[in-house]
Amino acid sequence: MAVQKVDFTGVQSTMLVTLFLRALDSRETHPVLGDHFAAEAVDRIDYDWARLDKPTITRNRFGLALRAKQFDEWTAQFLHRNPEATVLQLACGLDTRAFRLDRPVGVRWFDIDLSDVVALRRELYSETEDYRMIAASVTDEAWLTEIPEDKPTLILAEGLLMYLREPEVRRLSAQLTGHFPSGELIFDGVAPWVATMTQLLKKYFHRWYDYPAYWTATREAEEIERWDPRLRYRDHVCVVGLYEQVPDLALRRFYRIGSRLPWLRNYLRVFRAEF
Ligand SMILES: C[S@@+](CC[C@H](N)C(=O)[O-])C[C@H]1O[C@@H](n2cnc3c(N)ncnc32)[C@H](O)[C@@H]1O
Repeated sequence: MAVQKVDFTGVQSTMLVTLFLRALDSRETHPVLGDHFAAEAVDRIDYDWARLDKPTITRNRFGLALRAKQFDEWTAQFLHRNPEATVLQLACGLDTRAFRLDRPVGVRWFDIDLSDVVALRRELYSETEDYRMIAASVTDEAWLTEIPEDKPTLILAEGLLMYLREPEVRRLSAQLTGHFPSGELIFDGVAPWVATMTQLLKKYFHRWYDYPAYWTATREAEEIERWDPRLRYRDHVCVVGLYEQVPDLALRRFYRIGSRLPWLRNYLRVFRAEF
């Protein structure tokens, strides 16, 4: 059954791009992530997907799938070590990590996004006793009080922090690490030149449409500890460095070359920190 017509603008529209790219990856013979939920959602949502079917967008399908796969792997490891845990996925969009992964019975999972995104999500997926969706801006404080703080907590922020201003990132992190006694934060960050480029493009594209720029970049990994002294940096992975998993030969070669150039290697990284 098709769901309502979707016509998001602003930052909400970015989750249609990541959804579309995961669907494309899943239709490959040898997908990186193989998220069939994404392909099913694209088939059900009434949206003009041809708008996104452009080489400048679709060539990112494996990069986005590699990012999601890295999140999946670190999430699975956390849940293996902490089968009684709370997972908080900020800016979930239409991501289906909660259904892709084996969730131990003791895990409570919360997916959070802005209200119109969660309204769409509710048309596609249902809540259960241990899976809930919360409609809120992560920059508001009230929603956090709904989340129990009695278990080790994994906080996922995929494709979020770059859209916030740095003071918002610092405040959000302090709220989270102040609320939960212990856990991990997994997030992705772009290099400063990437953020600058999107800000310049925003000025240019703004005449035609609401292009959301990136505001917060991640320079060196230890910077996270300056955002929030309760965070302890543990690990990071450069997405282009995962080129061996890219099934398309030309793109794999592009990623391999990129992984040798420090400025391009740090284009997009996934970070893991403890608190
Ligand atoms: C690039 S999409 C990523 C979605 C999803 N994590 C994925 O990888 O497919 C960015 C998401 O951030 C959400 N977002 C942006 N600002 C937000 C905020 N202040 N509070 C909650 N969600 C926000 C948008 O609505 C959108 O769903």
